[in-house]
Amino acid sequence: KILILDFGSQVTQLIARRVREAHVFCEVHPCDVSDDWVRAYAKDGNLKGVILSGSHASVYEDSTDKAPQAVFELGLPVLGICYGMQTMAQQLGGKVEAGKTREFGAAQIRAHGHTALFDGIQDSTNAEGHGLLDVWMSHGDKVTEMPPGFKLMASNVACPIAGMADEARHFYAVQFHPEVTHTVQGQAILNRFVLDICATRPDWIMGDYIAEAVEKIRAQVGKEEVILGLSGGVDSSVAAALIHRAIGDQLTCVFVDHGLLRLNEGDMVMDMFVGKLHAKVMRVDASDQFLGHLAGVSDPEAKRKIIGREFVEVFKAAARTLVAQGATNSGANGSAVVKGATFLAQGTIYPDVIESGGAGNKKAVTIKSHHNVGGLPEQLGLKLLEPLRELFKDEVRELGVALGLPYNMVYRHPFPGPGLGVRILGEVKKEYADLLRRADAIFIEELHNFKDEASGKTWYQLTSQAFTVFLPVKSVGVMGDGRTYDYVVALRAVQTSDFMTADWAELPYALLKKVSGRIINEVRGINRVTYDVSSKPPATIEWE
Ligand code: XMP
Repeated sequence: KILILDFGSQVTQLIARRVREAHVFCEVHPCDVSDDWVRAYAKDGNLKGVILSGSHASVYEDSTDKAPQAVFELGLPVLGICYGMQTMAQQLGGKVEAGKTREFGAAQIRAHGHTALFDGIQDSTNAEGHGLLDVWMSHGDKVTEMPPGFKLMASNVACPIAGMADEARHFYAVQFHPEVTHTVQGQAILNRFVLDICATRPDWIMGDYIAEAVEKIRAQVGKEEVILGLSGGVDSSVAAALIHRAIGDQLTCVFVDHGLLRLNEGDMVMDMFVGKLHAKVMRVDASDQFLGHLAGVSDPEAKRKIIGREFVEVFKAAARTLVAQGATNSGANGSAVVKGATFLAQGTIYPDVIESGGAGNKKAVTIKSHHNVGGLPEQLGLKLLEPLRELFKDEVRELGVALGLPYNMVYRHPFPGPGLGVRILGEVKKEYADLLRRADAIFIEELHNFKDEASGKTWYQLTSQAFTVFLPVKSVGVMGDGRTYDYVVALRAVQTSDFMTADWAELPYALLKKVSGRIINEVRGINRVTYDVSSKPPATIEWE
């Protein structure tokens, strides 16, 4: 495995993802772990190399963080990235100085001589035949003197020491960010470090991981009972399938139907988990309760709060009956007895852990607090079981497929916790939800049907998130000989890699035409379809 020491950069996660994409296991730990911790971590011989990350811009200039010196004494390869390069230089006897200007953005650097890290990797060559790399820079300080034993590996005018290497000790450092996609050869460079220089085996493959994960879950759970909140989303579905593989009927899933799910979603979840996997699922139909509390409420945040609060209430009540001795549930065979659950399982994934600071880093800026039902385990007196804690989303999907979950479930677009509650503008009514569900199902079906010739992919695959929004306004139309006065829906489809920014998707007109025609003809009550051409920012992806 590879150890990534995090100096607080927002893109540290990306380093981990790239290493995992090379099928090598890695973990992110804070940069201020002790020398003893590092030595203990390396003791079993599985550690093959260390990567020192960049630092967050705001703490950057005056950062005094250092890597534990033991990192340089393990006899293992070390790669320093950006701040990681600077601290490596400083700690090994070189010099770092504050730059007069920040260098930020795309840059080209020249590779010097042959180093194991860059050999054969280049985007172009200059007049003298030296390799050039198109990279992404983001730094203020820079290394002005290399430590003894190092040679120059890369440079450009703005940054004369943009890369350095001590090949005898297998220490490499780059000022640019190989982990971001703007660095064209970034993945190749990280692969070179991890696979060749660190000599790891690319054996981190989800199909093989199942056996190990199953053993871990069995060891943790023993003979006890586990409950899990199943939402139909990717993470909770994969967690359920994995835990079920490990402990079978010791797992009971609770599926709360808040009445704001997509068309037939509840039945699909039951078919899959009860019908195919034979898991125990307690389905709680709480739609009346949710819709009742939402009546008369039109403020988006108020709606979110109500849905969140009710969800916790309903889930708690269901969980309590399962925790109580001898409670029965309406599971696969209807008569299974839950002896008293002691574990609550959640589909927390690695980015949640890193972002919530769970990986121990105080410095990374918290961008979002994750949506899992916080505080519930304590309230219910349950221990936590989080079998996806070390996986990235792509890996969770790969694992889901390996566990036999259908491709369509595992590669589904994200769906917000409050569901259609934030896709019906203003007050939520059952009538609106029913119309929206049918219109949305048509849109999604056609996105699956239409293929882009050039890429061979469907438009569902080519968009990151697509859905229909219900507008509670009426417009006039004509149908046959009659005048109609019905509701309007908006179609929304976006392309994004991180959901922080997003472009509206340039869907083919033929697709829009088909969807519009079908919705207006098949969903009585809707007579107008519009397409949302707003990007984020300034619009958000959801309308509320
Ligand atoms: P926005 O609308 O903020 O959405 O551009 C970004 C992503 O977050 C999802 N989203 C939510 N997810 N609860 C959730 O679980 C919410 O309240 C919520 N609001 C937005 C949205 O679907 C998109 O993927």
